[in-house]
Amino acid sequence: MSAVSFSESLDRTPAAAEVPLSSPLSPAAEWWQSAVIYQVYPRSFADGDGDGVGDLAGLTARLPYIAALGVDGIWMTPFQPSPQVDQGYDVSDYCGVDPLFGTLEQFEVLLAQAHALGLRVLLDVVPNHCSSAHPLFQAALAAGPGSPERDMFHFVQGPSGMPDGGGPGSADVPPNNWQSVFGGRAWSRANPGSETDKDWYLHLFSPEQPDWNWRNPAVGEYFDGVLRFWFVKGVDGLRIDVAHALFKADGLPDSPSEGGVVDGLRSNPQVSDQEDVHEVYRRWRRIAGEYQPQRLLVGEVNLEPARAARYTRADEMHQAFAFAFVKLGWDPEAWAAVGNDLDAARQEHGAAPTWALENHDIVRSATRFGGGPLGSARARAALVALLGLPGAAYLYQGQELGLPEVDVPLEARVDPMWARGGVCRDGARVPMPWTEDPALNHGFALGGSPAESWLPQPEGWGTHAVERQELDPESPLNLAKTALELRRTLWKNEVFTATDGGTWRVEAGNLLVCERNAEFLVAVAMGTEPVQLPAGTVLLSAVPLEEDGWLQPNNAAWVLRG
Ligand code: GLC
Repeated sequence: MSAVSFSESLDRTPAAAEVPLSSPLSPAAEWWQSAVIYQVYPRSFADGDGDGVGDLAGLTARLPYIAALGVDGIWMTPFQPSPQVDQGYDVSDYCGVDPLFGTLEQFEVLLAQAHALGLRVLLDVVPNHCSSAHPLFQAALAAGPGSPERDMFHFVQGPSGMPDGGGPGSADVPPNNWQSVFGGRAWSRANPGSETDKDWYLHLFSPEQPDWNWRNPAVGEYFDGVLRFWFVKGVDGLRIDVAHALFKADGLPDSPSEGGVVDGLRSNPQVSDQEDVHEVYRRWRRIAGEYQPQRLLVGEVNLEPARAARYTRADEMHQAFAFAFVKLGWDPEAWAAVGNDLDAARQEHGAAPTWALENHDIVRSATRFGGGPLGSARARAALVALLGLPGAAYLYQGQELGLPEVDVPLEARVDPMWARGGVCRDGARVPMPWTEDPALNHGFALGGSPAESWLPQPEGWGTHAVERQELDPESPLNLAKTALELRRTLWKNEVFTATDGGTWRVEAGNLLVCERNAEFLVAVAMGTEPVQLPAGTVLLSAVPLEEDGWLQPNNAAWVLRG
């Protein structure tokens, strides 16, 4: 990697611990516009009590590692009470901590320590569905058909006159053809076998995750309370799970397509991107603005750029992940097309894209981009590119180590999407390797003689270990730190600004170029031959240049234009 004298000649950026939470790096920007947030999957980050599952105590102990990366904050995936059918995305109490992870007091300590280290803390809120163990769903089951309790969810009788002979409210035919994202139909009987209770309930994910009925105002009031609970505690923002799906089309009509696994949501227009959902985010933005400093809202809005950008209009969420980008392969034309679409959306609606290459649901980039040394080289280059693009960025734990996807043994797989639909997300969720030595689950457990980790770490996991990478100046970890530090410096010196756009093109030899502004561009060599860079000073590259002004295949550079 090479960070040249230009960066050294600029003022040094203060270490994360010295950055007061309220001050943006650039006077003209809000903090989130320049931010890099590190996604923590608490189950797999650090295990404080040695039970094989990561927890709040483990994360608290490891916060200095995250601060030393030079990121601005963390997003924690759910740790609230849950039967853990979908690893916490089946929430049975939105305002607590599952004993598996610790206690509310431990969360308060974590929050205070993160703040003391200059890290903001975002939590996950799951408003589309809860757990079937949630007291309100249990009350609905008990209260029976037609009750106000059932109106908090989508309880519906089967269609009338269906050929099962059941007549109105058929017990054997579901209300419509919707498919679950996790496989199988999106409906289950409330009371299987009952002659009197012919209701079905809707679950876009597993049957243990019933969907809330957002057309009932009581649901909105309930979630306003959830937001306020965490904001009052001092949480800095929320990542909103499946944010585009809360409202279903009036009357729950059939989907024109049958959908299916993974695509169950996207291909079903009746459950996605309904206009009414925007009013929720307008209200939530007002609530976020009632606190000092204003709390951040970032949405999991899995839609194409033009539609997703409507969720980040000035009075809605602050950010929505650029999902069109998250899914890309190593294809310069596709990167340029998506980049330009995202920039067109930014110009129309104002908010810059929010970049991510990885999260807990998708195949690790080193594997997605080809696997082995080739995939690793591309993942390095992609990380450098990501951190130079205009807008905020999210890194997923382990991405800074270049972790590959793990082929988790069949008998160890726990993802409900695997059991129901044959797609497994466990390979991106294997516990972090902290030490080369396999003892203590490669340092995942902080002491004692721990239980085996909840997902097994594969042979050779220690080659990616944090302690090993810290000693290697060329490691992915040190590259990520260098890029993050230089990014902060460029923001501080207003080479990067909140009004930067992105003009993308592919030059001869498959050189992908994103011009961020008149001074700065990102280039990625996505072909098979070395390519000449546009004129300028190379501030950073994923691996050192072999020849001045030329980029080898699968390398990326930040160029200060000459
Ligand atoms: C989101 C989460 C995913 C979860 C799903 C259902 O997509 O990222 O992990 O399974 O929502 O809650």
